[in-house]
Amino acid sequence: MITNLLSAGDLDRTDAIRILDTAEELLGVASRPIKKLPTLRGRTVVNLFFEDSTRTRISFEAAAKRLSADVINFSAKGSSVSKGESLKDTALTLQAMGADAVIIRHHSSGAPHRLAQARWTKGAVINAGDGTHEHPTQALLDAFTMRRHLSDSPAGSLGADLQGKNVTIVGDVLHSRVARSNALLLHTLGAHVTLVAPPTLLPVGVDHWPVETSYDLDASLEKADAVMMLRVQAERMNASYFPSAREYSRRYGLDTARLNRLPDHAIVMHPGPMNRGMEITADVADHVRSVIVEQVTNGVAVRMAVLYLLLGGAAGESDTTEEGTA
Ligand code: NCD
Repeated sequence: MITNLLSAGDLDRTDAIRILDTAEELLGVASRPIKKLPTLRGRTVVNLFFEDSTRTRISFEAAAKRLSADVINFSAKGSSVSKGESLKDTALTLQAMGADAVIIRHHSSGAPHRLAQARWTKGAVINAGDGTHEHPTQALLDAFTMRRHLSDSPAGSLGADLQGKNVTIVGDVLHSRVARSNALLLHTLGAHVTLVAPPTLLPVGVDHWPVETSYDLDASLEKADAVMMLRVQAERMNASYFPSAREYSRRYGLDTARLNRLPDHAIVMHPGPMNRGMEITADVADHVRSVIVEQVTNGVAVRMAVLYLLLGGAAGESDTTEEGTA
């Protein structure tokens, strides 16, 4: 098993399936009256968030707490980062506090890699979204959700992959770390990915990704097993990438008419936060075939699995003398 989770591309098929299977086993914890396991008791997990987040931060916090770890939440706002403290000094401070895992979200692509490679922390580094680059745990929770709905084996089966499934990812691929991580992981799991976007919202070099690309949403709906809508990330746009919001929705938005053209078994996904009325209509977001809320629930189980496997939870339970094993 890997020691850090920086990119979805770090995971080979065996590691990816081990995380998904472990998450499957941990999913049941959420429906128990007492949602806690003693696995990471005495371990310290730091949530280091330099960028806004609702779902991901809360999800990691819930995951760590359900495994009984001590959680320190650090957000750049209100910290010495706003006084100009560097990532290095922030990391060294956390290291001095004995962090066993550092979960980092940063506006700069590559920040988690820098943290891990410079060894500013001895803990496991988990990328919770870096700039427009990667968001590996989102890809894992997306794959987990797809596996439960689309796999030929019954939901909850272990070892299932997504061999031969067609996943269509639509929208602002250019600014999306979710799209890149999904493309890499879904390829590893045997799925076929089509990215659909206006030409202005596809990144340079996308031809080297293990995907097909298309500018035509309608043409790719009929064969999709899952359609994942991406948020239009206006905060990262420094130019005009499409004529108007209305024009964007008309060509690339998922509405009921388009939903009806999907195969009956197909599911609708979105990593959140949604721009209702822009990339997805409210009707579709709340439709029975939308698994958007379930993605959030599954995110906790997947992040529990990642923390458990990276921190050597099983070893930690029997060994109370060692420092972090990651
Ligand atoms: C995504 C992110 O932050 O990259 N959201 C998330 O983690 N749930 C996608 C987005 O912001 O649009």
